[in-house]
Amino acid sequence: MLALVTDPGSSSGVTLREVPDPLPRPDEALVELRAVSLNRGEVRRLASQPAGIVPGWDVAGVVVEQAQDASGPSSGARVVGLVARGAWAQLAAVPTSTLATLPTPVSFAAASTLPVAGLTAYRALSLGGLLLGKRVLVTGAAGGVGRFAIQLAKGAGAHVTAVIGSPERSQGLTDLGADEIVVDFASEGLPFDLLLESVGGRSLAAALARVAPAGTIVSFGNSSGEPTEFDVSSFYRHGAGARLYAFLVFDDLRHAGSGTHDLELLAGLVAEGALDPQISLETHWHEPEEAFRALIERRVLGKAVLRVD
Ligand SMILES: NC(=O)c1ccc[n+]([C@@H]2O[C@H](COP(=O)([O-])OP(=O)(O)OC[C@H]3O[C@@H](n4cnc5c(N)ncnc54)[C@H](OP(=O)(O)O)[C@@H]3O)[C@@H](O)[C@H]2O)c1
Repeated sequence: MLALVTDPGSSSGVTLREVPDPLPRPDEALVELRAVSLNRGEVRRLASQPAGIVPGWDVAGVVVEQAQDASGPSSGARVVGLVARGAWAQLAAVPTSTLATLPTPVSFAAASTLPVAGLTAYRALSLGGLLLGKRVLVTGAAGGVGRFAIQLAKGAGAHVTAVIGSPERSQGLTDLGADEIVVDFASEGLPFDLLLESVGGRSLAAALARVAPAGTIVSFGNSSGEPTEFDVSSFYRHGAGARLYAFLVFDDLRHAGSGTHDLELLAGLVAEGALDPQISLETHWHEPEEAFRALIERRVLGKAVLRVD
């Protein structure tokens, strides 16, 4: 099969070439890819990976071989799924515990945005419990996870504050459900019950200063790459009982035992028109370089998707 393979010598960090087909384990289905979405984490780490690896986490395509243990969707099913690596390829072996059948109206491109970005937003918000009437803040709000988080939090009845890096990145956020858009997230101001924090550095410091008593900060990224200095006494005085929760989507799903139900739920919301994956860049997987660059340079509003055929 063809795959995008890590290649430190190429300008994009990957080369399209022939590699052996994956060999599914008994609990894995073989899926023929139709679309993958790009995530900041997998693009950023291309440079640090050894040569010859097939990256990629998000899978959308068609089952060509059902799992040998007969779990999961059967051959011919349109599916969405998550893998630890290997999605940037014509074929991927996908554990049926992270595979879900797609409703007909959901395109492969839309589906491909759901595993990492959609599940991260959904499961991070779930850590805040019942969100009705709660004050929720989302950093990195213009990005892939952020745009899902705004919609899901608003749909659950929260008051949503979206934090962005510059005013021009605010495009579409009010329509998605942001009640307030903030460019400079400062340490002073009203507290929040739940903060989804992925920028790190001073943004995480501000989150630690603004969390309400017994509130939750879910830390799942460090897009800024900066270290965080914060006022410890302000954190425990103003946020008594608050917690800082370290979230990793793969680890979270391993503990949960399955991601199938949540993928079905997200795909169902997309099918109903209640959740928009916010794809603003779509291109063919033979030419991924500009999509990689746009994502890292913060020029993508929402998700970038590669069509695979
Ligand atoms: N722990 C996990 O399991 C998990 C899962 C998914 C994602 N993540 C991480 O979560 C973060 C968000 O993921 P994503 O897919 O939504 O990424 P994304 O689409 O690239 O969005 C990232 C957002 O963060 C902001 N940002 C980027 N670099 C920044 C910087 N240097 N300083 C300040 N803000 C910056 C940008 O804001 P503006 O648009 O306003 O410039 C951008 O919209 C990433 O760091 C990713 O690696 C972690």
